[in-house]
Amino acid sequence: MVRCKTAAGAVLLSLATCSIAVPVEDVVSVPTTTFTSEPASTAPVRPHTNVTYHGPYTGPPPTTTGALTTDVLAPSIPALPPGPNAYDYPSDGKLHAPLPAPYTPAGGDGTNGSAPVYRMLSDFDYESLALVLYQEWIELDLFHWGLATFSVADFEAAGLTAEDRYLIQFMAEQEVGHVTLVSNMLGAQAPMQCSYNYPVANVREFIDFCQKLTRFGEAGVYGFLNHLNAHDVGQLLLQSITTEARQQMIFRQFEGLFPMPEWFIVGIPQSWAWSLLSPYISSCPENQTRLVWQNFPSLNILNQPNPARTNGADVWNETTGGYTNTLSTADISAEDDCLNSNEVGVGCGPAITRNRSVPLSYPGRQVFLEWEAPGQPIGPNNSYVTSTTAAAPVFAAWVSQLNVTYTPLQGIEGNKAWTAQPNMSTFEGDPAVNGTMFLVLTDLDLYVTPFNLTMLNPHVRAVALYQAG
Ligand SMILES: *[C@@H]1O[C@H](CO)[C@@H](O)[C@H](O)[C@H]1NC(C)=O
Ligand SMILES: *[C@@H]1O[C@H](CO)[C@@H](O)[C@H](O)[C@H]1NC(C)=O
Ligand SMILES: *[C@@H]1O[C@H](CO)[C@@H](O)[C@H](O)[C@H]1NC(C)=O
Ligand SMILES: *[C@@H]1O[C@H](CO)[C@@H](O)[C@H](O)[C@H]1NC(C)=O
Ligand SMILES: *[C@@H]1O[C@H](CO)[C@@H](O)[C@H](O)[C@H]1NC(C)=O
Ligand SMILES: *[C@@H]1O[C@H](CO)[C@@H](O)[C@H](O)[C@H]1NC(C)=O
Ligand SMILES: *[C@@H]1O[C@H](CO)[C@@H](O)[C@H](O)[C@H]1NC(C)=O
Ligand SMILES: *[C@@H]1O[C@H](CO)[C@@H](O)[C@H](O)[C@H]1NC(C)=O
Ligand SMILES: *[C@@H]1O[C@H](CO)[C@@H](O)[C@H](O)[C@H]1NC(C)=O
Ligand SMILES: *[C@@H]1O[C@H](CO)[C@@H](O)[C@H](O)[C@H]1NC(C)=O
Repeated sequence: MVRCKTAAGAVLLSLATCSIAVPVEDVVSVPTTTFTSEPASTAPVRPHTNVTYHGPYTGPPPTTTGALTTDVLAPSIPALPPGPNAYDYPSDGKLHAPLPAPYTPAGGDGTNGSAPVYRMLSDFDYESLALVLYQEWIELDLFHWGLATFSVADFEAAGLTAEDRYLIQFMAEQEVGHVTLVSNMLGAQAPMQCSYNYPVANVREFIDFCQKLTRFGEAGVYGFLNHLNAHDVGQLLLQSITTEARQQMIFRQFEGLFPMPEWFIVGIPQSWAWSLLSPYISSCPENQTRLVWQNFPSLNILNQPNPARTNGADVWNETTGGYTNTLSTADISAEDDCLNSNEVGVGCGPAITRNRSVPLSYPGRQVFLEWEAPGQPIGPNNSYVTSTTAAAPVFAAWVSQLNVTYTPLQGIEGNKAWTAQPNMSTFEGDPAVNGTMFLVLTDLDLYVTPFNLTMLNPHVRAVALYQAG
């Protein structure tokens, strides 16, 4: 090796001779050495295959039916006042205990030096993470399935380019990571990959289904994350679900929706997430680990707003079915299709953001509802059964951002009724009912807040996802 001086006086190291020394500005941008290192050992991913069958379950009747259960101690959890220490901390900006170490305020969970082990600590933890794994598996298949099912021309007709398709493929790869992480934490009986049945006939229906499915996946985790006993498990799950949150927003952008029309993202109970997810699982392998969660009956939103329409609120019976109530494009004429417009406020092609001058919904909108009877077989191998402990429904609960607001059901006839979209805000300037949110029917207007929403379950008659904006 030779030491050379450039014209500017800088000393260079060169493998050749001084004659190849170049002016210093060029040297800065032309590396002469490539550093290589041995790759660090990499953790393997959980084995997975491309699911070969998609469609409804056609196999024999299941040998096991119903949710996993054991002795049940009471029909519901009694409501109690706040815990004894709930008001003790003065919250005055001062320190109230010695520091355990420099710059380390007293308190916190998992801060005493015990090594984290990332294992479940309770049935609550196991069942919640097992539910997440069912969700991660379906996402892994769904994103691949969409890419494999629709042609390049189909995607391009929906405004999605090769770069957009690569992003969807990358999202599927992220799911491989999430599946592996959650499986490793659950252990040997972690739920396996299943086969699925998607209510999707074209690219726009696929994108809408992905947008809605990732929302209940995301919201399903926010509902239980801070209730986990194992906070170390919660940490890793948090770092996966924040990725899912970005996927949800990207699918909204692919759909030409305003990416995040809310100030807070809603959380929902596990049984709502399972009710919304399981209808799309057609069968799971022998010995599959079953779940404890309830399957509520389906709620059909007969005038579910349709984001593919220029006036998405002016719509009748344009979903592919109850529960998730995803959009159907079957009956949209070219002139009512917002994809055919380039006008700002009307066009709904994929974009970072879109203004919709005609909002998908609005306070006071009449929303027409139809709900199913309990007792229907559903989910993997039709081996779960829908159930409810609620009496005849009299309220619609709008579950959005930080709020649960009830509106009375009107014109109830059998299993049909209508209700009016409420006008409420989280804080001044933030109408609470917006985005991809949840609508459930109840027999009681129970007061619940984000950390005790699950207390509503004994009163839930049917569940749906509502496309407010
Ligand atoms: C699954 O299919 C995708 C293309 O749709 C392909 O890129 C991937 O390699 C396949 N994965 C497996 C495990 O076969
Ligand atoms: C430290 O906290 C953990 C819970 O995070 C607890 O299990 C353990 O007993 C605590 N250890 C000590 C020495 O207090
Ligand atoms: C579900 O059905 C499939 C296809 O009939 C079968 O192979 C599988 O063992 C069943 N799964 C369970 C958990 O019974
Ligand atoms: C299912 O479990 C039974 C009993 O443990 C076992 O004999 C059988 O091999 C398992 N089947 C599969 C596909 O793992
Ligand atoms: C909605 O449309 C489906 C067919 O797509 C039909 O079976 C059903 O009766 C319709 N429901 C209402 C309330 O119009
Ligand atoms: C988008 O909508 C906002 C809120 O209604 C409005 O202030 C803004 O002018 C609109 N921008 C365009 C380009 O339409
Ligand atoms: C939802 O938010 C968007 C974007 O701010 C707004 O244009 C729309 O009117 C809102 N919809 C409702 C129902 O408030
Ligand atoms: C909703 O409430 C706001 C005040 O918070 C009011 O300005 C607005 O007119 C109300 N809209 C409807 C449709 O009632
Ligand atoms: C919505 O939630 C916010 C924040 O918790 C609360 O201040 C507000 O009163 C709630 N509004 C309704 C109508 O429940
Ligand atoms: C839920 O929590 C709120 C306080 O945030 C409390 O007022 C309400 O009674 C609780 N609901 C139930 C059913 O426990």
